[in-house]
Amino acid sequence: MIEVSHLRKSFGNTVAVKDISFEVNTGENLILLGTSGCGKTTTLRMLNRLIMPESGNIRINGRDVRSVSPEKLRRGIGYVMQQTGLFPHYTIAENIAIVPKLEKWPGEKINARTRELMHKLGLSYDTHVHMFPHELSGGQQQRVGIARALAADPPVLLMDEPFGALDPITRQKIRNDFKEVDELKRKTIVMVTHDVQDAFALATRICLMDKGAIVQLGTPEELREKPVNDFVSRFLQGEYNHAT
Ligand SMILES: Nc1ncnc2c1ncn2[C@@H]1O[C@H](COP(=O)(O)OP(=O)(O)OP(=O)(O)O)[C@@H](O)[C@H]1O
Ligand SMILES: [Mg+2]
Repeated sequence: MIEVSHLRKSFGNTVAVKDISFEVNTGENLILLGTSGCGKTTTLRMLNRLIMPESGNIRINGRDVRSVSPEKLRRGIGYVMQQTGLFPHYTIAENIAIVPKLEKWPGEKINARTRELMHKLGLSYDTHVHMFPHELSGGQQQRVGIARALAADPPVLLMDEPFGALDPITRQKIRNDFKEVDELKRKTIVMVTHDVQDAFALATRICLMDKGAIVQLGTPEELREKPVNDFVSRFLQGEYNHAT
């Protein structure tokens, strides 16, 4: 479904991503895990052309992403940004409706979809729909960010710390709710997190990164049972946990 080969990206003298290759199968949830600054967001943003790689290739459904215009590409790829990225002057309804509006859905269909998604993600349509993001809690804003990414039912979702900046209890609650959302089970997902528990709870496979490179890629069991080096074991034991 998604094939990434030999991606590289520098910013000035910083090599953010050195040589990253992986594949994501349909319906998989691949988790990019690693310490702050290891290149997770940069890798994710190359997948939907928010950042252009210096070298390397990305194919989604067999097509090179460079052969599709960024706008068209992004309509088929839901994106949950780090720190939610909600538009502050748009209501919750307007935030969720961004892609359906671009797709020129009729108003009634957009309203029905908004209501459905808010319900599925544990938000109250009647209470929240006309509010602005700052009137919601951090956890509720994260839920809106996920609803927005799902709105037009894209087959692929990119999620950057979708449960970031939350206290551990809220984080666990949203993570558990997330596992129960039927629509998400059908998606091909690349999710970024620095949190080992997120990764173990949600990943089909984990891609553990350090300093712009992949250290180990495998199922949660493979990483736990056959860590390739000390860094992997120490990371999984939570030694590198940091707040983002
Ligand atoms: N636009 C930019 N300009 C300059 N340097 C950048 C830019 N974006 C990222 N970097 C650098 O590239 C490296 C990787 O950044 P990236 O945002 O991919 O890390 P990350 O793994 O997502 O970290 P975090 O967990 O803190 O979000 C860092 O050293 C960062 O400072
Ligand atoms: Mg990041």
